[in-house]
Amino acid sequence: MAPLRSKFSMFWMLVVLTAHVTEGIGKPKLIGDEEACGSSNNNDNTLSLRSTKSFGVGGPEPGDIADAFMVRTLDGEFRYKPGVLRGPLIIHAFTNKSGFLECLWSSESSLSSLVQDLPDSAQVLFLSLDDSAVSDALWMRDQLHRAAVGRKEVLSRLHFSPVPVFALGNWIPMVLYYWGCVSRNCVLAQVAFTSEGWHMPIIIKRLDARYDWLSTRWGQTSYQLIDSGDGCDPDPSPSLAGAVAWVSEGNCSYFTKVENMAKSNASGVLVYALPGNPIQDMNCVDDECNATLSIPAAMVHLEPSVAQALESGQPLYVSFQNTPSPYFFFSIDQQGLLAEMGWFLYPSFSFVAWQAQWFDFYTDLQNKLQNPAKVVTVFDRVQMHGEKGAVATVDMPPGLSDFNVLELDAALSCPSKRDGSCAHWDHTVQLFVCCDPGGPYCNTELGRWITAFRRGTGRWLTDVSPLLPLLDANKCTFTMKTPPWAMPWFTSLNLRFSIGNQTGENEEVSLDLGLEHRVGETFDKNYNKRYEPIQILRSRPSTKKVDGSFCVLSHHFLLNDVFNNTLIFDSAGTPLGCTTRVKEGAVPNEHGTWLYGRAGWCDGLQVNPWRVDVTKQLDMSGSESNTVLYFGLFEGKDPNPAKDPGYIIMSSFLVFYK
Ligand SMILES: *[C@@H]1O[C@H](CO)[C@@H](O)[C@H](O)[C@H]1NC(C)=O
Ligand SMILES: *[C@@H]1O[C@H](CO)[C@@H](O)[C@H](O)[C@H]1NC(C)=O
Ligand SMILES: *[C@@H]1O[C@H](CO)[C@@H](O)[C@H](O)[C@H]1NC(C)=O
Ligand SMILES: *[C@@H]1O[C@H](CO)[C@@H](O)[C@H](O)[C@H]1NC(C)=O
Ligand SMILES: *[C@@H]1O[C@H](CO)[C@@H](O)[C@H](O)[C@H]1NC(C)=O
Ligand SMILES: *[C@@H]1O[C@H](CO)[C@@H](O)[C@H](O)[C@H]1NC(C)=O
Repeated sequence: MAPLRSKFSMFWMLVVLTAHVTEGIGKPKLIGDEEACGSSNNNDNTLSLRSTKSFGVGGPEPGDIADAFMVRTLDGEFRYKPGVLRGPLIIHAFTNKSGFLECLWSSESSLSSLVQDLPDSAQVLFLSLDDSAVSDALWMRDQLHRAAVGRKEVLSRLHFSPVPVFALGNWIPMVLYYWGCVSRNCVLAQVAFTSEGWHMPIIIKRLDARYDWLSTRWGQTSYQLIDSGDGCDPDPSPSLAGAVAWVSEGNCSYFTKVENMAKSNASGVLVYALPGNPIQDMNCVDDECNATLSIPAAMVHLEPSVAQALESGQPLYVSFQNTPSPYFFFSIDQQGLLAEMGWFLYPSFSFVAWQAQWFDFYTDLQNKLQNPAKVVTVFDRVQMHGEKGAVATVDMPPGLSDFNVLELDAALSCPSKRDGSCAHWDHTVQLFVCCDPGGPYCNTELGRWITAFRRGTGRWLTDVSPLLPLLDANKCTFTMKTPPWAMPWFTSLNLRFSIGNQTGENEEVSLDLGLEHRVGETFDKNYNKRYEPIQILRSRPSTKKVDGSFCVLSHHFLLNDVFNNTLIFDSAGTPLGCTTRVKEGAVPNEHGTWLYGRAGWCDGLQVNPWRVDVTKQLDMSGSESNTVLYFGLFEGKDPNPAKDPGYIIMSSFLVFYK
């Protein structure tokens, strides 16, 4: 899991300043914006020839082939045959025993995100796990038909089955039960009430408050339950010390209720829905979200015997439990393979839409990988771990200088086919190349990615063409690394050499590269003082590499004191910034706070180089030298963090084309 409230203190960037020079005369030339997506090895490492018919000891796993099936629906029947899907098929099994699913299906914003954001290619099959499957199917259809105002077209791609999962008679129940689930979106979170007068505890479903504004979890103990009205009184009369407060929804915000109860030393808060209302996703709003509250809270239905016991002054105790459940969501991707759907951080169908968008991205990527290219395999599911990382020495084929496009096709997978076996945290992955052992360019950074929290599906294609000259050798050693303490990943990497047309017709594609290393410092008030202007002479092209550590929102490369090349990361800190990049390959539904916008990166995505053509900004007459000054600003000013300075990892290159 990610830290609860990310401070966005880490930023990554890879900068390529490129200058085109023809015959010593500066000639303006625009290089297309760097574009990168997708990646991986020739052998799709999720592809297995097992089909669900022939699973062995366990059952079908992610990556296995989904066999044909038929399911009765409210409109007739839904038939799946391998090879017929135009897009992904999402399969969802509903149960009203889950507060999470009740909310997912009641919230207007959740329902509308499904009908609005589901890609045109995707279909969804809705099932129910319970005896009430007929009424559940009718209710689900009703909810989505209401939400689909303005996008009726989507309804033809939504299928509702009145047959309960346990009666389907095909392989689907096997996947749902065998994959099981213990994480937030599919565990049955419950509250147990006990009282001396009762023979049996009363157990009802609960939905814990949203992840990002309350910081603790329910303890394993039993708490006294005390009625505290609507929770809006900042000074409630009965002492709440050590107890769980029982408060109604309404009259003030969820945040106010929990804040008041926390001030009164309550150990937790149960907010009950007023009769007829669904359980809601308790969240903070606007400025409320600046504060973090330190007690847990959950929403439940009003249970009449609980209300009666409290009214009569009978002591009541509560405890909290989580019961494993079958899997609620899985999918069959365009390639006909079973796939996990990842983690839903809060009850919203947005997560379904994002996963479906990613499947579309992945299909496009597979198509791109069919384009002609000279492919050199560096890693094929090699473990990357510890100080050493993954290392491979590769014979470089002759004739690479004929190509002007170099793409990195990289994929990260996990020890097993299940996401549950993947590394838990997001870390930087860097690829270094050395083709001139002992020389000045040895171990230059060629690519960078950020790992996904516990998801093993990432594959990315990154264009790093300006760095082609680094590979001009017979043999190169590639090293791919995460921090040594990170859990292992299995990396696959292909280099794809091809001929593109982003360079001009009267341009030669060979490059000259100079390089200078500098290890960075903390991003503090002295940060910019440490960067001296760099002199560049026409006759001696040089490339500057800077590795730094700081915390910046804008980066500036000032050329010849006049030209201000500025990169501003303005999506940093937006709550959903990285969800907009799922279509570019950012891995969705990670087990952590992958959704927040970040400065120059997202979890589960490659770091795209930023390219600027600076030809016009340089004096190439040879009579003057040129200078480059780099500086980083935080909100337009020199950084001056009071504490916890962040850091930046930056590699910048000045590339000369001749
Ligand atoms: C789900 O359960 C809640 C209370 O337990 C109830 O109010 C609601 O009507 C149920 N919804 C469906 C679709 O059965
Ligand atoms: C909201 O406040 C009104 C007026 O004080 C009170 O009568 C009502 O019971 C409160 N609502 C709830 C749900 O407690
Ligand atoms: C809460 O606990 C603190 C520390 O023990 C105590 O000083 C304070 O009076 C308590 N507040 C209430 C409302 O019980
Ligand atoms: C909460 O944070 C936002 C964004 O950082 C800021 O604009 C706002 O003034 C803060 N509000 C309060 C009450 O501190
Ligand atoms: C080359 O240019 C053509 C026409 O602009 C474009 O359609 C094509 O996709 C380009 N090819 C590459 C490899 O960039
Ligand atoms: C460069 O541009 C940035 C943002 O527009 C500005 O804050 C900075 O002062 C400029 N620097 C110079 C030297 O012009």
